[in-house]
Amino acid sequence: MQPYCPAQRLASANSLPAAKLFRLDKPAGGKHTCPMHPENAAINAVTAVTHADPWPYYRRLREEQPLFFDPTLNLWVASSLATVAAALAHPQLRVRPPAEPVPTALLGTAAGEVFAQLVRMTDGDFHAAHKPAVEQAARRWSLDDVAAAARAASQELADVEDPNAFMARLPVRALALLLGVPAAQRDATCEWVRSFVAGIAPGASADAVGRAVEGAAALMAQGQALGLGSVQAANRIAFMQQSLDATAALIGHTVLQLREQPAPDHMRSFVTEVERWCAPTQNTRRFAAQDLELAGQRIAAGQGVLVVLAAANRDAALNIEPERFDPQRPQPRSMGFGEGCHACPGAAIAIEIVATFAISMRSTGQFASYFGAQEGFRPLANISSPLFVH
Ligand code: HEM
Repeated sequence: MQPYCPAQRLASANSLPAAKLFRLDKPAGGKHTCPMHPENAAINAVTAVTHADPWPYYRRLREEQPLFFDPTLNLWVASSLATVAAALAHPQLRVRPPAEPVPTALLGTAAGEVFAQLVRMTDGDFHAAHKPAVEQAARRWSLDDVAAAARAASQELADVEDPNAFMARLPVRALALLLGVPAAQRDATCEWVRSFVAGIAPGASADAVGRAVEGAAALMAQGQALGLGSVQAANRIAFMQQSLDATAALIGHTVLQLREQPAPDHMRSFVTEVERWCAPTQNTRRFAAQDLELAGQRIAAGQGVLVVLAAANRDAALNIEPERFDPQRPQPRSMGFGEGCHACPGAAIAIEIVATFAISMRSTGQFASYFGAQEGFRPLANISSPLFVH
């Protein structure tokens, strides 16, 4: 299969209608977010995200250069379990560049105010003070609650004919249901979340930032009307925002693996293995707050580290026979939800949403008719998110 670039498809005579892609895709954020790499072109750790088969490359990195500086990306790249775990554990490797805690384009706006209070985007004392409440909030829902919300969200989206739009909408709607957003506000709420996610992406257009600001203001007002303080209201948004792209990608990879693998006995274990094996969130980034040493390399203050979770997921130090797809692994381990103080509090929720969706979709026998052939990936620099012909 060829690597795929939706921007090129838009330009081609046979492309999908622009509106359909626009609803799914962040604004193209520069060349590296929409790589076109013919088979003989050099792959790097960012273009690998949208490569049809990045695994041989990740393996080479792991075995030959587990932590190295890539001058073309201007980033350090960590790929083995040891270097990925060390990067995620290092107290001076931060989630935001020290010189730009909030993206400049968002400063002074409602979107910037939300961004500055997200546990995902903060470190140190602020993060330590607020992460426990986010984890506690995630634990208040049982898996039955999550499954019920996923089924209700699927029903509300029953008239969405485009599978790509469905994947993008299901997770955020399920989270809106779990958060108790009333039916009359659900469409608008999901749209505000989508706008917020699109507008805070690197390289977002001024229009997209404007929509993100409106969305952030509306979502904060919604939280504050529930009596939440500012930090709580911002991290209530985080539940919906963080669910959106990564869970859509997990749905996409689950659809592909259900085609490839024998019918599973237990869907939750199957989706858990899809996440480990495909690692929809292929990488995350860290930035050095001061000169430091990581796995024997000196990293200068301000330099970035691309932490390749996907490569670590196929490290034999993490799982036995990591290149084998095996939903029955006795104790599967994944770095795909992060690790350490920024670990994802939504992992079980995401897996349950996807498993519930897959079970109900299979029971209706609609998989083959609803999801066409895969036609590539969304043009994202960190998440591998399959797109399907509709
Ligand atoms: C219901 C869906 C989800 C919710 C509510 C959710 C929520 C969150 C939140 C709030 C954080 C920030 C934690 C912190 O920084 O302290 C986070 C981090 C993270 N999430 Fe999720 N998430 C969801 C789905 C997913 C999925 C499906 C994946 C991967 C396939 C994923 C991968 C990650 C990773 C890798 C991080 C850590 C990023 C880093 O350390 O840089 N999440 N998630």
